[in-house]
Amino acid sequence: MSHLVAPSLLSANFLNLEKDIVMLNQSEADWFHLDVMDGVFVPNISFGFSIIEKIRKATQKVLDVHLMIVDPERYLERFKKAGADIISIHMEACRNPVEALRTIRTLHAKAGIVINPETPVNVLTEVIAEADMVLLMSVHPGFGGQSFIQDTLEKIITLRSMITLQNLSVMIEVDGGIDLQNAPLLVRQGVDILVAGNTIFSSADPTATIHQLKNIR
Ligand code: DX5
Ligand code: ZN
Repeated sequence: MSHLVAPSLLSANFLNLEKDIVMLNQSEADWFHLDVMDGVFVPNISFGFSIIEKIRKATQKVLDVHLMIVDPERYLERFKKAGADIISIHMEACRNPVEALRTIRTLHAKAGIVINPETPVNVLTEVIAEADMVLLMSVHPGFGGQSFIQDTLEKIITLRSMITLQNLSVMIEVDGGIDLQNAPLLVRQGVDILVAGNTIFSSADPTATIHQLKNIR
């Protein structure tokens, strides 16, 4: 399978969100990456259920919801109801990740587990079998437009061997600071989903940038 491109709407124009959604619908973008922040787990607050419900009505594409909130267990059902197809929770924000991932699957959503740049891959050993996707943060979560942390490349290799060793079919998503320079490296490492916010939405031609990200070989 070739890689997928998931634009992060955090960098979209919220004054005219419909325009950006129409652009994404007509583009080669595969998923909509939606960043939910609570101002506690990360030092920023973004958006919640009502915005996701509106986006759900405006696109048929997969809604990939990245929860940067503490104790995400409290809200899994509501995010599913709002329209999430994939729900990703942070290892660092969750008391019982195994249980939370199982709950997400019970809700008939795909379950993602996320780790921050400073969290080692080996913490995933006990939970990875419960996940459909691992999201490696390649910036400190909270803000778009930061630069890619190079250590992520090592983590991708470690994660890939963990997946192979346990004979799993878990997707790898990378999020933060992805641009046209580093994306080919990630694709070559076997990353399944590239998230990109700033690179797409601050481009003069976002559709063309999505095309470029999608057509990396
Ligand atoms: C950061 C978010 C990212 C962010 C990526 O906390 O999880 O999804 O929007 O933005 P860029 O691609 O601009 O680093
Ligand atoms: Zn994200």
